[in-house]
Amino acid sequence: MHKADIKSKELKSQGKKRIEWALKRMPVLAAIRERFQKEKPLKNLNIGACLHITTETAALAITLKAAGANASFCASNPLSTQDDVAASLVYDYGIEVFAVNNENRNTYYSHINSVLSKKPKITLDDGADLISTIHKKQNQTNCQSLPWASTEETTTGVIRLKALEKEKKLLYPIIAVNDAYTKHLFDNRYGTGQSTLDGILRATNKLIAGETFVVCGYGWCGRGVAQKAKGLGAKVIVCETDPLRGLEATMDGFLVMPMAEAARLGNIFVTTTGDIDVIAKKHFPSMKDGTILANAGHFDVEIDTKSLKKIALSSKKAKPLVTEYRLKNGNKIYLLAEGRLVNLACAEGHPAEVMDLSFANQALSCEYIAKNHQNLENKVYRVPEKIDKKVARLKLKSMGVKIDSLTSRQKKYLTSWQQGT
Ligand SMILES: NC(=O)c1ccc[n+]([C@@H]2O[C@H](COP(=O)([O-])OP(=O)(O)OC[C@H]3O[C@@H](n4cnc5c(N)ncnc54)[C@H](O)[C@@H]3O)[C@@H](O)[C@H]2O)c1
Repeated sequence: MHKADIKSKELKSQGKKRIEWALKRMPVLAAIRERFQKEKPLKNLNIGACLHITTETAALAITLKAAGANASFCASNPLSTQDDVAASLVYDYGIEVFAVNNENRNTYYSHINSVLSKKPKITLDDGADLISTIHKKQNQTNCQSLPWASTEETTTGVIRLKALEKEKKLLYPIIAVNDAYTKHLFDNRYGTGQSTLDGILRATNKLIAGETFVVCGYGWCGRGVAQKAKGLGAKVIVCETDPLRGLEATMDGFLVMPMAEAARLGNIFVTTTGDIDVIAKKHFPSMKDGTILANAGHFDVEIDTKSLKKIALSSKKAKPLVTEYRLKNGNKIYLLAEGRLVNLACAEGHPAEVMDLSFANQALSCEYIAKNHQNLENKVYRVPEKIDKKVARLKLKSMGVKIDSLTSRQKKYLTSWQQGT
């Protein structure tokens, strides 16, 4: 059960109120939950989830429970756990949570093992830590019980799993929820865009207008961050390694240049690449005094924080979640949240409206696995298009937006080679 037991009881009423707030803002998941409550598609199934323990994840947990599942949760990031939410899930909703904010590495993995000890038939991951622990254990001991299939929420996790698939080492099927259009459009783009700026603002209270804001990576997340920073009045520079994305950023009106050049110009830097050493040792000495560094990519490896610590003459806590590093040249660099996900560590992660779509994909993918696991191979699958479109339809419906339907004549025309005649 949740570690901070006594403290948790005090926290739970705050957590409950916040969960209720999120539940009201997640209409797509609510529609799915209503059906799940009646049909019980996950009846008596053990489900293990390694996700950020936030109010929105609580809404997913409640939905899985409504579907009849025995779900247990652990954290996918030690800094993102909202203890009040964990407490309320345990005490108000009877859902097992193994997570406490700021847990150390040992505790983090002991919590992952607690979830795996339930022998889940389906697992849900955000960064593939549960899946990779299962793979490591199975390779070492050959006695880890394998799930029917797992879902993966984020780009970084999908990259890791595709690498396993390529090496033919994937032990069971995966549904890449990240690759659903309704997921990355909302979560990676609109969600990360807004909540990354929110995290920077909460940590620094800085006026963004007029600042030079460098976004590393112009993928789904980077586009969102760049768009929001521009909206707040920043001069935005984009660093990319992919020529198509670099071209797109240029045509979208951003200055595009290598990091070595951007390092000298920026006031605020955000990494969103899923890559390593994007801001590296060689870049720090050329940065301006007062530079702010933040990471919105999954792992804390995008900014080479180890080298920053090594080359700094001194460091101190400037504010909560802001560390000041003083370099040889006298310049000070401010690192947010130790280079971990800034939108989760310094703000509250994505708004509920965004997670509604991601978690609707998660819930429907769990139902899909329960019904179809016998037909799945050890591959990384996309979320079936039918599920993606269903999620989009439910979202449009919840917003009161109607769209046209194709007539049978139009359907025939669009699939014919005789178009234009
Ligand atoms: N903060 C969040 O809440 C959140 C949400 C979703 C995804 N993510 C994470 O954000 C990261 C990016 O996700 P995405 O969906 O935007 O991925 P993406 O693949 O769409 O985009 C990544 C971009 O980074 C570029 N890139 C790679 N190495 C680079 C380098 N050294 N310098 C500059 N650009 C580089 C790639 O060319 C690509 O265009 C992943 O780690 C993902 O897991 C975080």
